[in-house]
Amino acid sequence: MELNVLILPGDGIGTEVTREAVRVLSRVSEKFGHPAHLTEGLLGGVAIHRTGTPLPEETVKLALAADATLMGAVGLPEFDNVAPEKRPEKGLLGIRKALGVYANLRPVKTYHALIDSSPLKNHLVEGTDMIIVRELTGGLYYGTPRGISGSGDEERGVNTMTYTRAEIARIARMAFHLARNRRKKVTSVDKSNVLETSQLWRKVVVEVAAGFPDVELDHLLVDNCAMQLVLNPRRFDVVVTENLFGDILSDEGAVLAGSIGMLPSASIGDRKPSGAWVGLYEPVHGSAPDLAGQNKANPFGAIGSVAAMLEYSFGLKEEAAAVNAAIEAVLNSGRVTADLKPAGPPATTEQVGRAVCEAI
Ligand code: IPM
Ligand code: MN
Repeated sequence: MELNVLILPGDGIGTEVTREAVRVLSRVSEKFGHPAHLTEGLLGGVAIHRTGTPLPEETVKLALAADATLMGAVGLPEFDNVAPEKRPEKGLLGIRKALGVYANLRPVKTYHALIDSSPLKNHLVEGTDMIIVRELTGGLYYGTPRGISGSGDEERGVNTMTYTRAEIARIARMAFHLARNRRKKVTSVDKSNVLETSQLWRKVVVEVAAGFPDVELDHLLVDNCAMQLVLNPRRFDVVVTENLFGDILSDEGAVLAGSIGMLPSASIGDRKPSGAWVGLYEPVHGSAPDLAGQNKANPFGAIGSVAAMLEYSFGLKEEAAAVNAAIEAVLNSGRVTADLKPAGPPATTEQVGRAVCEAI
């Protein structure tokens, strides 16, 4: 199978972790005989510097033409005080929308080798294995009206949380399908005691659930969910929630995994005629400007995103499993970056990438 992949390294540590993810992708391509055709594009702060916009048209064209897109991270401190419209993050939101990747799958799993990396007690985190299904192209991130207007005491900021029945139903179906191949439990997270969008969310999720009688459904309010995640993480199998709640809860999930550098993600949309998913693959972490340029960042989230790409966009299950097994082998070897509290001197980003390649 040919692997036509667009690479968007982005900003900060995005470029460093993506380099290792590409190294791993190239290793898989060689070992399993899938020719890789990699193109590189601009997204985020680097795109603003070179072209004046965080999402150049050329990048959208390349992404639409590729079978899958692998992304690093976006964001630079120099844009901290700039309007949302002109920030690097706008490029990421734009490409998610352009590709129509409405489902962001964020697996949160505790590896035995990392049990001491989490600040939580071992007996709490041991055995955690969930997937957060975050709605990615709706809600507050995209709702209109939005903006800041007026002046003085009347200056006002507005954002709009909005969901249609169709948007809720498709993400709910995705969650139930995933649960069918796991422990058959979906937890839908909302704030239906306050928000109308959440009331509709809950109603539609219940309707979708009727088509999946083999999957158990429960509901949690988002504040309670935030607490249950650290009190009893093993209770979760598939968590489905709207965009902003999913953004927040998945960073909390990183504490269970030991480091935010561990978490991969797959953003997928509808299936192409070939049966493959349109996909954008990115680690959950950000561009971490304070770590950038030092070869210290944890590349496992980016490398795990390559595994997700092989599985969802190319249907290469064996290859994906080989990458995941190699990640686990390197974790067990203890040759890991500083965030994972290695026993000896910390490994560099590049050393971890090379070690994963060797283990494949
Ligand atoms: C994420 C990030 C992004 C988001 C930012 C960089 C726009 O935090 O992917 O979780 O909020 O979606
Ligand atoms: Mn986030």
